[in-house]
Amino acid sequence: MTAAWTPVALARDLPRLGVMPVCVDGIDVALWRSASGRLAAWADRCPHRGMRLSHGFVRGEALSCIYHGWSYGASGSCLRIPAHPDLEPPEAIRVPVHRATENNGVIWVALGDQDNTPPALTGLVPLRSVTVQARAEVIRSASGLAIGADGIARGHLASIAVAVLMQALPEGATVLHVLAEPADPAALIAASRAVEALRRAAESKGAA
Ligand code: FES
Repeated sequence: MTAAWTPVALARDLPRLGVMPVCVDGIDVALWRSASGRLAAWADRCPHRGMRLSHGFVRGEALSCIYHGWSYGASGSCLRIPAHPDLEPPEAIRVPVHRATENNGVIWVALGDQDNTPPALTGLVPLRSVTVQARAEVIRSASGLAIGADGIARGHLASIAVAVLMQALPEGATVLHVLAEPADPAALIAASRAVEALRRAAESKGAA
């Protein structure tokens, strides 16, 4: 059931106190990590006046909006409104929260309730993420990689075993999150260059 979970980033690309925008099934999501390392994926829209929360900043275990500074805690509920420091924010002021998890160095997000888990990618390590200006089917065709029952493209790039996770973006672009078998640095660099060559091939094929 990989369709329920979308790979959105490599875990190393989201450090503690970091926040970044990601896209899941066309929905904007603010992905962030607290000081303690807790991962969260929220609707990328402040309940106050709609500013993107991915433009905000993390302090401790809370995410604050860049516009008027409203801050939100782990459950998505509003903790503080700076313009009214003595006011206890109403419970109704709350950011919609999505499910987020990480395994094998990949961050996954699911919209709605899911009781399943993302696919296991044991024995592989994160290699790189790259944005390709082409749709997933064009990339699959250009790569020659086999698509498994879990929807993940697997095969070899530069003689290194890889798994390629695809995240669709609006307007036909796709982010590839690539994992590879552990190997020496030179082999991993070669695999990384092969990913870049795949990007170019897919983009030229998509433009043809
Ligand atoms: S829009 Fe976010 S605090 Fe005002």
